[in-house]
Amino acid sequence: MKIAIMGFGTVGSGAYESALAEGGIEVVKILDRCVRKGYEHLTDRFTSNIEDITGDPEIELVVESMGGVGVAREFVLKCLKAGKHVVTPNKNLISACYKELMDEAEANGVMLRFTPAVGGGIPWLYNLLRTKRCDEVLEVRGIVNGTCNYILDAMYDKGADFGEMLKTAQELGYAEADPSSDIEGTDTLRKTVISANLAFDAAIKEEDVPVYGISTIQACDIAYLKEKGLVCKLMMKAEKKDGAIEAYVEPTAFSVTSLEANVKTNNNLITLEGKNVGTQSFYGQGAGMLPTGESVIQDVIDIRDGKAQAIGSTGASGLKADNSKAVHRYYIRHDRMCEHIEPLIDTFEEKDGIFYCISKPITVEEMHKMGHHRREKGKEMFFAALAE
Ligand code: HSE
Repeated sequence: MKIAIMGFGTVGSGAYESALAEGGIEVVKILDRCVRKGYEHLTDRFTSNIEDITGDPEIELVVESMGGVGVAREFVLKCLKAGKHVVTPNKNLISACYKELMDEAEANGVMLRFTPAVGGGIPWLYNLLRTKRCDEVLEVRGIVNGTCNYILDAMYDKGADFGEMLKTAQELGYAEADPSSDIEGTDTLRKTVISANLAFDAAIKEEDVPVYGISTIQACDIAYLKEKGLVCKLMMKAEKKDGAIEAYVEPTAFSVTSLEANVKTNNNLITLEGKNVGTQSFYGQGAGMLPTGESVIQDVIDIRDGKAQAIGSTGASGLKADNSKAVHRYYIRHDRMCEHIEPLIDTFEEKDGIFYCISKPITVEEMHKMGHHRREKGKEMFFAALAE
């Protein structure tokens, strides 16, 4: 099969390496502004003109690994309209334009696949679709950001510094071009939206999902939780409940003996609850050039061999997001006991002017609202839901 790759950065070049290893996929065009270091021998395949791809009848499939939404959306739509299958690891694009792109693929009789968009090298979305063939998915949840897990794990294990670990995650190719989307939770948010929509045949949007990241975590939070036998992870969760979808992203404290607490370095752990199959968890490299590149090529192979699974009609279930009944107890660390926080607190300890609290059961919406409000006011705060 002859393919093109648009965007030859970390994942695009990883996909190229996996295509070479597979042997039956030929990368004939690469769309990028400049030739990547180490790939100078491919110079004659590079182009900056999308028409060189859409107008080439030999190219059957295009890998979009440019990232972002604007140009990526425009080029993917052009490829679909030109009758090319598309495979993309671009979670921003799929999360924001899921229905539009799937509808366009269907209208043109081609496939759009995005397994690497959630879980990097883990065939999570592939297995989610597989489960749906004969089961009802009730819940999806997990650790889906390799950068955050890398930072949290190093802080817990080695007392490492947040900023230094973020820098290392960037050097290792785990982090996004703008790493604030990793640490503020928006990367996890996009993966939640994609997983929930596939799991529940829904069409929920990013703005439906409350999100709070880990950028305000400090060594004192890790130490306090560790003392209590707890480990903090950034979690996504989406659950079908009472005719709606509860979906949110937040730091969560797990017992040290749990599976989640033992996810190391940049790994991801993603779990589904099937009505019949029960709990299934998927663990592995959630980010990085070769794992994600391989996942891209697995999708390409499935399309080439006519084995790509049906996705189902986007939004067909009509399920909407509703977090009004999602309630947890939270660990909250803040620097001042004020009238907004005090009524929510069950127990607290004060050390050196810092309040380490356990809340009463409160809604996700209320907790996130308070967290964002205090940050806007420049106040110190971190919170983590206490896993049940
Ligand atoms: N920045 C992402 C992560 C890359 O750290 O998980 C994989 O989606």
